[in-house]
Formats: sequence, C-alpha cells, structure tokens
Amino acid sequence: MFVNQRLSAIKPSATIGITMRARELNAKGINVISLAAGEPDVDTPSHIKAAAIKALEEGKTKYTPSAGIPALREAIAAKLQRENGLQYTPQQIVVGCGAKHSLYNIFQIMLEPGDEVIIPSPYWVSYPELVTLAGGTPVIIPTDQAHEFRISPQQLATAITPRTRAFVLNSPSNPTGMGYDRAAQQALADVLRPHPRIAIISDEIYELLTYRGFTHVSFAAAAPDLHARTFTVNGFSKTFSMTGWRLGYVACPDRASADAIQCLQDQSTTGTTSFAQYGALAALQGGLDCVAQMRAAFDERRAWLVAALNNIPGVSCLDPQGAFYVFPDISAWGIPSTELCLRLLDEAHIAPVPGAAFGADAHIRISFATGMQQLQEAVTRLRSWAARTIKR
Ligand SMILES: Cc1ncc(COP(=O)(O)O)c(C=O)c1O
Repeated sequence: MFVNQRLSAIKPSATIGITMRARELNAKGINVISLAAGEPDVDTPSHIKAAAIKALEEGKTKYTPSAGIPALREAIAAKLQRENGLQYTPQQIVVGCGAKHSLYNIFQIMLEPGDEVIIPSPYWVSYPELVTLAGGTPVIIPTDQAHEFRISPQQLATAITPRTRAFVLNSPSNPTGMGYDRAAQQALADVLRPHPRIAIISDEIYELLTYRGFTHVSFAAAAPDLHARTFTVNGFSKTFSMTGWRLGYVACPDRASADAIQCLQDQSTTGTTSFAQYGALAALQGGLDCVAQMRAAFDERRAWLVAALNNIPGVSCLDPQGAFYVFPDISAWGIPSTELCLRLLDEAHIAPVPGAAFGADAHIRISFATGMQQLQEAVTRLRSWAARTIKR
C-alpha cells in the first residue's frame, strides 16, 4: 500500500459515490433515477463549443501560461467589474481546472499546519477535505433549517480563535440552496473586520442560478473594505453547463497570492487545457441568454418539487433561493441519512445524497438538475416507498 497518512484521512466524495452506484444499477438494467447530479442537465451552449472547436482547428493546442491565456484573465476581470462590481487586475486572476482546483490551491498556498478554517454547515462536501489536505483544521459552525441554514454573526464570532486563517462563505449554497443577502454578508463582515489574519473565501459558483427574487451579491462588493482579504472563487461549470471542461478561477486579494497560486500551477498542472480556455472566453463574451433559459427551467422544477416534497408525510423542505438542490428534513422518518439513501437506492430506485455527507444527517439532498418527468417519477417513488415503509 503506497498511500500516506495525509491521504488516508481524506474521504471520497459522497456525491460521486452515489452517482457511480446508481450508474452500476442502471448498467444492470434497473431503472434508477439519480437525484445526485451536481451538474446542469443541458449541453454546453453551442457558441461555446464552437469557439473551442475553432481554437483546436487553429492549432491552439500547446501549453498556455499556467495562470490562463491573457485574453481569458482580462475577460474574467471585466466580468467581475461588469456583473459583480469588483475591481481586479488580470494579474490577480488565476484560471484553474475548475473552482474545486482553485479552492485546493488557495488552501495549499495559505495554510500553515494547524491553521483553522471556519466552514458553515451544511457545507459542500469538498471544503473540509481540501482544508485537511492542506494541513489545516476545519472548524464547523452548525446551522439548521429553523435558521434557514444561515450562521449568525454571534456564531461566527464564537468560532474565531488566534489560529483562524480563513472563513468560507458559499452563497447561494450547495447543498441548502440558501443565500446571504447584502445585509447578512455585511453583518458577518462586521465580525471579521477586526481580525486581519482571516481571509474570506467567497465561493460564488451558483451566483446566477437564483430564485424567488434573491439577488446574489459578491462578498467583496458587500464589504468593500474587506476586498483586500477576499478570494472570490467562481467557474464555468454551473453557469454555462461546462462541468466536464474543468475550468474555474480565483480572483485573489493581491498579486502575491495570485503569483503563489500560479507558481503552484506551474509545478503541478501547468495550467488548464488550451482550447477549453477559448470556449470559456466565448462564454464570458457571449451574453447570458443561455443562462437565463436554464435558470427558468430550474425555477419551474424548484417550485414544483418543493410543493410535492412538502406533501409527503414526514418531509419538510425549505424553498431554495439558489443553486439546483433542495435539502429536505427527513428526520421524522427516524432513519439516518446514509442508511435511508442506500435503502432508497435499492428499494425505491431513486438516488438522493445523504445529508451526512454535508454535515447534516437530518437531511437528504435532491438535485433538480434533472428533467421534470424524471423528478415527477422520483417523487412518486419516494412517496410510495414512504407510504409502505414508514410506520405511523
Ligand atoms: C459549492 C461548489 N463549489 C465549487 C464546486 C466545484 O465546481 P467546479 O470544480 O466544477 O468548477 C462545486 C461543484 O459541485 C460546488 O457545488
């Protein structure tokens, strides 16, 4: 066995695990509806694909600068100014192999052994693992449905210690779908302001997939005086349905941290795929109509799904403000979420993700990045499974 201690401590991604298990059952001829998808169910828009194909045909097939081609870094800086009201120079932007890679890099360049990173729970599965991999210690702040899964400024204040190095904010959130509006972010900023050692890592990957009148505000725009301590993370996977392209980016608070991430990429990935970056450039230059269409489809499914789930006895589901997940409370059924999801896979042939993976065992996560018909069939299966299984 050639695996060191550091890696032995890392958990495999539960979302990927459930998706694979559902695929295995499907391969055996069992019709399993996966509700685990972390990606839109539509193809990448054709103008983006065309730009990548053109780049390939033009021979743009060589190494690029490892922080990204200059035109893409400039386009990202322009997007952040135009859509988010944030000023960054292209030199502060580093393009990585997905937002996940950018997050990995941030923790790698920032953390000293034992540094603490505050993460509100329920959290995206990878945050604690990425922190641990970098030698840091995740400090989890629990939230619950009664508080719409938002931490309070008091909770944040209590979690801060002399070892705190960073605070991770994910709005709108995977898995809860809830967001922090400008005022809520400013209240957290008030707590962070007197602690100059703490960086803010603002993961804004679901910024454009919002519902019910929720408007995303970038953390560094809500608290401009903390801009110089904020890493703004975003990507192309969700907004432009480009999960397989592996392209994301971080806008760094200063040149030094951008240069450190670039150096890490120099010595690890040598940057990202050349022609994919031209597709990303076309995505940023091609307007947001394609995103609006996708958002509208998600919005319709969201409204239907929340109502349908709340109609099942024992299920209580908040209406999300963003992303493409609902995170219902199923604790009334009295079955731990991992056991429940394995049973639902085998007995109802549906595959949600256990809330335990996100630090919330009272819940399961259901993605609505799945066609309406599939969702309707999935809810029918869930309702009839519960009717025959859960004793009242
Ligand atoms: C909150 C959040 N951040 C980051 C990512 C990573 O996205 P990618 O690496 O595909 O850009 C995901 C993907 O599921 C996510 O949900």
